[in-house]
Amino acid sequence: MDTLASRYRDRVPDREMDRRAHWLSHQLRRTAGQRGQYGELRLLPRGAHCQADWDIRKHGVFENPGRKLRVYCSGETHTWIQKATDLGGLGTDSIRWIATDSKSRMDVSTLRRQIEADTAAGDAPFLVVGTAGSVSTGAVDPLPEISALCKEYGMWFHVDGAYGGFAAAVPQANDDVRGLCLADSIAVDPHKWLYAPLEAGCALVRDPEMLRAAFAYHPPYYHFDEQATNYVDYGPQNSRGFRALKVWLALRQVGAEGYRKMIADDIRLSRAMAQAISRHAELELMTQDLSITTFRYVPSDLRARLRESEVEIHLDALNRELVDRLQRGGEIFVSNAIVCGRYVLRACIVNFHTTQSDVEAVPDIVARIGCEVDTELRPTTSRSQ
Ligand SMILES: Cc1ncc(COP(=O)(O)O)c(C=O)c1O
Repeated sequence: MDTLASRYRDRVPDREMDRRAHWLSHQLRRTAGQRGQYGELRLLPRGAHCQADWDIRKHGVFENPGRKLRVYCSGETHTWIQKATDLGGLGTDSIRWIATDSKSRMDVSTLRRQIEADTAAGDAPFLVVGTAGSVSTGAVDPLPEISALCKEYGMWFHVDGAYGGFAAAVPQANDDVRGLCLADSIAVDPHKWLYAPLEAGCALVRDPEMLRAAFAYHPPYYHFDEQATNYVDYGPQNSRGFRALKVWLALRQVGAEGYRKMIADDIRLSRAMAQAISRHAELELMTQDLSITTFRYVPSDLRARLRESEVEIHLDALNRELVDRLQRGGEIFVSNAIVCGRYVLRACIVNFHTTQSDVEAVPDIVARIGCEVDTELRPTTSRSQ
């Protein structure tokens, strides 16, 4: 694919790429204007540039040292936000981590209070990041409420839909995820839920002119056809690989309907897995959202003692070792998450080969290995008399 991409890079007109970007945004319910190709790290300077009341492009983020630019996101946000604030020169201290509710969704009243406190202190709140499908549990922030707040305070609203954004195209997903149509910018990763080979990140920005204002320079040694879309004007990269080719080819082959079906199947299978887990006496279901299910192994005799700290410490160690053994064993692959402070197993289905019998096999495999690990690790003091 890379060989193909490098051969065809200069032959596929930017107009064709533009049509593909339009197609993608149409699938996301006409969310954002256009211009795919770039990831979230690259959008941060853009957001700062538009919302700050000084010329960041010219003077940089430190021109106004008394007024610190502030970024708001929930504690469930993926770690890209730390990289982005670091690389963007804002520093990770610019991030205000907003508390979440019992479903891991951003608490909008806390967000409002923090923005008001920062404004009163003379800082410059400029960006709120909502998440449509968090990395740990697939939680979706209350996007319409966050959007309304951003409008009220004149802030940029970005949605991280890297994993969950594509679910907006299927009716089976909960309505919250469709709130991403209110964002100023969205990140979606075709290498996640469009099943594209690594890597193909994509950022969609409502107003393409905002990108041009942030990134375009026209030195005399670049000779542009002003009628064409020159992607060099829409992001930080000049020479670029043709990552979009693999996404475009798959879209041509599978079509919108094919993708809707595959994504809906993944959601259905994840819900089926959650049901199978909740029926199992030795498993505790923690969450199910989009196509992510989280759960842990709890030996039957410890069920009644769940909040005892000695028991919880043992369960954390047990489930940590269990994830490790399952990954090394090769029968099933699960990753891990921390939910309500507990170490849990995380099954995220973004594979069109996964079947109903696969998900139904999970509980017994986990319980079998879990029992082995429990026998090895349990301190004698935790054993039921
Ligand atoms: C919600 C979310 N955002 C961002 C990322 C980062 O994606 P990548 O590792 O592909 O850069 C992930 C990865 O899992 C994610 O789940």
